Amino acid sequence: MKNNRILVTGAGGFMGSHLVNYIISKNHKKVYGVDDLSGGFRQNVHPKSIFTKLDLRDKKKTSKYISSVKPDIIFHLAADATEGRSQFTPIECTERNYGAYLNLLIPAIKNGLIEIILTSSMSVYGSQRPPFSENMRRDPDDIYGISKAAMERATEILASVHGFQYVIIRPHNVYGPRQNLSDPYRNVVAIFVNCLLNNKNFYIYSDGNQKRAFSYIDDFTPYIYKAAFLKKAEREIFNIGPVEECTINQLAKIVLKNFFPDGRIPNNLLPEYLPARPLEVKNAWCTVDKAQKILGYKTTISIEDGIRKMIEWAKTRGPQKFKYLDSLEIENTKTPKLWKKKLI
Ligand SMILES: NC(=O)c1ccc[n+]([C@@H]2O[C@H](COP(=O)([O-])OP(=O)(O)OC[C@H]3O[C@@H](n4cnc5c(N)ncnc54)[C@H](O)[C@@H]3O)[C@@H](O)[C@H]2O)c1
Repeated sequence: MKNNRILVTGAGGFMGSHLVNYIISKNHKKVYGVDDLSGGFRQNVHPKSIFTKLDLRDKKKTSKYISSVKPDIIFHLAADATEGRSQFTPIECTERNYGAYLNLLIPAIKNGLIEIILTSSMSVYGSQRPPFSENMRRDPDDIYGISKAAMERATEILASVHGFQYVIIRPHNVYGPRQNLSDPYRNVVAIFVNCLLNNKNFYIYSDGNQKRAFSYIDDFTPYIYKAAFLKKAEREIFNIGPVEECTINQLAKIVLKNFFPDGRIPNNLLPEYLPARPLEVKNAWCTVDKAQKILGYKTTISIEDGIRKMIEWAKTRGPQKFKYLDSLEIENTKTPKLWKKKLI
């Protein structure tokens, strides 16, 4: 097992880079990583991993790369993870998620893949009534969710025909050090923190009473790793995340409290409210009984402690400029004002 060739896609990204570090800490010898660095950073890449800058949308280059590495195990984390934006960049989302995934998986199957661990998302549950459990149907409500649901189903179908193993992981919102702070389209915790670092207020969509659940990265990485090496986890789907839900308003309070530990929050940094984004799911959290039972999942880091750690790290990075796309695939009256007017 320690000599398996392990490939992590999205190795320069937030969760992928933590996973590479974890795999290397477990003494695996052949740890490969790919990333096109569109959303990740070279500095996140572990020096002991064998890193290649690769855009998985490039079918030919991806196929050539896979034929040379011949990975036994793949953790697939590369993605365009901008769920809220996917209604305005549906082609980019589909190409970077479903398209890139098939470009990776097909040559991997031809080159002796043993197992793939697919990082999916809660978005596959859509607006069904939470808490979401793994036996609920896939019923995505947005373009990002469609691509994740398609990736999941394609994995199940191709595995049943071609005989490799797989595990599907559906994480909650995950946050922590190394998260991209400069993306204005995603990662609510990172956006809130980076606005404050830039001495700007942040914005809350809708009334802020929408419920989510948040995982600190250290409560995620060990379980995706464990899922890959456990017989009982094969061909299973796991939600991973804490059971306690938190509203966006509560999250905002925790961020402000930890950013200004003396309690003196400048008036100009209090949040402002904007209309809801189109199709945003109101409430999303899940059950984790299955991950608790099979993977031994436990939440060990409270949201307060996690946010404090995230802010400590972000303060060492300092304010980052938000990077907007030059244009969206669809721009019209439905485009959120925050993006149109580059409010942050
Ligand atoms: N962070 C979360 O809250 C969360 C929640 C649920 C699911 N996920 C999923 O977990 C995975 C990791 O998310 P993350 O938060 O670490 O995001 P991230 O953006 O930090 O990491 C994704 C990485 O994929 C890379 N990438 C994008 N397109 C690529 C391409 N065509 N070829 C090669 N690399 C490419 C990006 O450069 C980036 O480094 C994603 O699949 C995401 O959908 C994340």
